[in-house]
Amino acid sequence: MAKVYIETYGCQMNVADTEIVMGILSQNGYENIQDASSADVILLNTCSVRDNAEQRIYGRLNNLNKLKKDNPGLVLGILGCMAERLRQDLIEEKKAVDLVVGPDEYRRLPEFIDHAFGGEKGIGVRLSRTETYEDIAPYREDGLQAWISVMRGCDKFCSFCVVPFTRGRERSRTLSSIVSEIEDLSARGFREVTLLGQNVNSYNDNGNDFADLLDASAGVDRNIRIRYTTSHPQDLSDKLLHTMAEHANICNYIHLPVQSGSNRILELMNRTYTIEHYLGLIEKARKIIPGVSFSTDIIAGFPSETIDDHIMTLDVMRQVRYDGAYMFKYSPREGTKAYKMDDDVEEEIKLKRLNDIITLQQSISRELNQELVGREEVVLIEGKSKKSDKHFSGRTGTNKVVVFPAEDHFTIGDYVNVKIERVTSATLIGSVV
Ligand code: 5AD
Ligand code: SF4
Repeated sequence: MAKVYIETYGCQMNVADTEIVMGILSQNGYENIQDASSADVILLNTCSVRDNAEQRIYGRLNNLNKLKKDNPGLVLGILGCMAERLRQDLIEEKKAVDLVVGPDEYRRLPEFIDHAFGGEKGIGVRLSRTETYEDIAPYREDGLQAWISVMRGCDKFCSFCVVPFTRGRERSRTLSSIVSEIEDLSARGFREVTLLGQNVNSYNDNGNDFADLLDASAGVDRNIRIRYTTSHPQDLSDKLLHTMAEHANICNYIHLPVQSGSNRILELMNRTYTIEHYLGLIEKARKIIPGVSFSTDIIAGFPSETIDDHIMTLDVMRQVRYDGAYMFKYSPREGTKAYKMDDDVEEEIKLKRLNDIITLQQSISRELNQELVGREEVVLIEGKSKKSDKHFSGRTGTNKVVVFPAEDHFTIGDYVNVKIERVTSATLIGSVV
């Protein structure tokens, strides 16, 4: 049995894709291992969204090529977004790898690996309008939490983003295939499912929209929490908000990337909404779903961003008070519309603005945590706390980590009510009520 080791970079979609890849490979007689040094095949599932992600992967490839010196039969491959972007470069110029397979060609991996064992290089980078891998059973260890990718690709074409080029057009899996996957997870004792897509709100299976999918998913097993990510403000419908409010097991948490607080920059980003519209959505969601919290993505230093634009971003952060944020420096990506714009915000200024954003977010997160002291939260017990086996660690519906004294009559996978007594920067500490 050939042994495969896969390393995953980038977003949760890639984590879910790695499970699909392992599903395909294990059906074809490959064994999944956790140790690169004893592998026959090493695959890196890569990310192209920012340049630093790609640089890290190049560094890692150099390292892994050293393993190849000792073991010339070793097959080294690149999967995911970089495969799509850099096919020629990786195989022909850098001669760094044996195979390069993009996100829509994973079914052909066994064939590519076979050829690679015979010394033949392989490239499979065609994008598909229909591939969803819905018939593939992802390879998952037993556990509490599972990712399910429900749609693939993106049609939004934000001007900074390489995803529509690396992952292709939007397409959705059938609702019935997703529901039956959740049924299987329920039978295996899973307690949390995250529905994934580059833009899940665009989900559409013959007229069933994302709200219909959430409704059906929540109905499978009331002990399974449903989360989803990521949303585009353009498609966050009232129906979706009402569906969230109707089901106790759909987490009251929305990841709603804003990217910038300036309408001028949002327009250049091709985000298709104004800040007023965005803030209106947040207000509406808070009315419909009491206690809902938000997280976001923010880009600092987009082309032509002025200090005033930057201040508008900080203002929006103060208005919304996000629970959390993923914050990035703008990184020009070849092939995108923004790549043709002058990347004119100096590195130093980008960094300074990013730091402003991070500092503000930290203080907001701290305040929001502080406000939870004295409140009761429903916590899913995930395991013993890292620091003490006399404590359990779990998460709230809003994805916050809670640590509390372990009691014998509770176990991993149970839901408990925990009263929050104090907070540290990243953790809530409490006790079961
Ligand atoms: N530069 C910086 N950040 C980017 N993102 C996407 N493309 C870029 C880029 N070129 C960020 C966006 C997106 C998140 C997944 O990554 O904020 O929401
Ligand atoms: Fe990229 Fe925009 Fe699509 Fe998100 S919605 S994947 S940022 S193009």
